[in-house]
Amino acid sequence: MTRSRPTAAAMSLLATLLACALLHTVPAGTVEAGGRTSAHGEHKCAAVQSPAPSVTCAAAAAAEEDVSDGNLLPPAPLQAPDAKQYVTGEYRDEVHAEGDLAGIHTGEYGYKYRTIDGLVLPPYVTPKRLAAAQSVITRADDICYCSFPKSGSTWLANVLYLMLHDGIEAEGDMPLRSNLHWMESSWTFPRTQAEVDAMPPPRIFKSHMPHGYALGGGPGKAPCRYIYIARNPKDVAVSYWHFESNQSWSGGYNGPWEHWLQLFVDGKVQRGSWFDHVLSWWQVKDAENMLFLKYEDLKRGFPSQLRRISNFTGHELSGEAFERVVNASSFQHMKQSRFANHQTMRGFEGFLRKGEVGSWKEQFTVAQSEAFDKLYKQRMAGSGLNFDFE
Ligand SMILES: *[C@@H]1O[C@H](CO)[C@@H](O)[C@H](O)[C@H]1NC(C)=O
Ligand SMILES: *[C@@H]1O[C@H](CO)[C@@H](O)[C@H](O)[C@H]1NC(C)=O
Ligand SMILES: *[C@@H]1O[C@H](CO)[C@@H](O)[C@H](O)[C@H]1NC(C)=O
Repeated sequence: MTRSRPTAAAMSLLATLLACALLHTVPAGTVEAGGRTSAHGEHKCAAVQSPAPSVTCAAAAAAEEDVSDGNLLPPAPLQAPDAKQYVTGEYRDEVHAEGDLAGIHTGEYGYKYRTIDGLVLPPYVTPKRLAAAQSVITRADDICYCSFPKSGSTWLANVLYLMLHDGIEAEGDMPLRSNLHWMESSWTFPRTQAEVDAMPPPRIFKSHMPHGYALGGGPGKAPCRYIYIARNPKDVAVSYWHFESNQSWSGGYNGPWEHWLQLFVDGKVQRGSWFDHVLSWWQVKDAENMLFLKYEDLKRGFPSQLRRISNFTGHELSGEAFERVVNASSFQHMKQSRFANHQTMRGFEGFLRKGEVGSWKEQFTVAQSEAFDKLYKQRMAGSGLNFDFE
């Protein structure tokens, strides 16, 4: 697939015009890479860096509404641009489902989800966002990493970012998460099509969708380099249970382990069946622009997997940069790193929990483990894909 690529200057002009049109004002500073979508999901407000703009996003959005309503309300109180609040604030359906509350279901133990074509998804993956993700026009120097949740994707994201930045973490207020583009989600740093179109390379996209809903069309169709990371499903199930329990983004789900395990086995957790997800990407593993990784391989032999990643993406690392990436990718480093750990996000304090292979043994009973093994054998038979469970 070839598409002519607009020049960087044209892109930058477009981005500025867009920001101006949406802000109804001339930006006083440079436009930040990030942005925010209002609760109505319609106004796209660019956050403007200091000096502070005289019109905030909220006020501009309110002003626009007044006009369309023909009903002049007093302007909303001036506030600092709250893109950061949007990013770090707690998940809320009212904000992050972007007005699409009708599609949200509540299951047993309060588990919240929505379905699209029967696939169980988080409330913040709206049909609109998903469609936008699928229609992103990717470039050959883009990287999109994908996984089922809790399979090492944040680890991989950190590795990719470091690899592209000589092993050096960004300082200040732009943590790892804000350098990634998660198009299917209204949370945690929503991007619009126009924003990502205007972004210079290298762009790193994130996705938790099965292959049928791949960002930009998927390997073999889009030029982007795709990296899928998979982890043994027993550790995934346990890690996911901890991640979804008592949290705002899952409706405060408070089911016991055996209930969660049943949901997981039935493919009724957010993102659906682990088996369907992993096998859908495994089927395209041989595409030229596709790399399939396993969490356990990264755990066991990180340097050789890093070499695979850097070879696949065409980003050679010098000896010292290679060592810096290795150092900054260790679990111990990431856990205490302000850059890599999602510690500025409410509810994410324990995001990097254990990061071990085989922790499932502390949770599964022998009977649960045996039943799971049986299902695993059935579902994986003939695929040629195997996982290490310890
Ligand atoms: C969720 O909260 C309940 C009530 O506080 C607690 O008993 C339970 O252990 C929590 N679940 C998890 C997996 O942390
Ligand atoms: C990747 O590895 C292949 C085969 O070993 C080699 O020919 C190629 O130059 C490498 N590419 C990069 C970018 O390292
Ligand atoms: C990587 O970590 C090791 C052990 O802490 C240290 O000796 C080495 O200097 C570090 N390398 C780089 C490039 O920072």
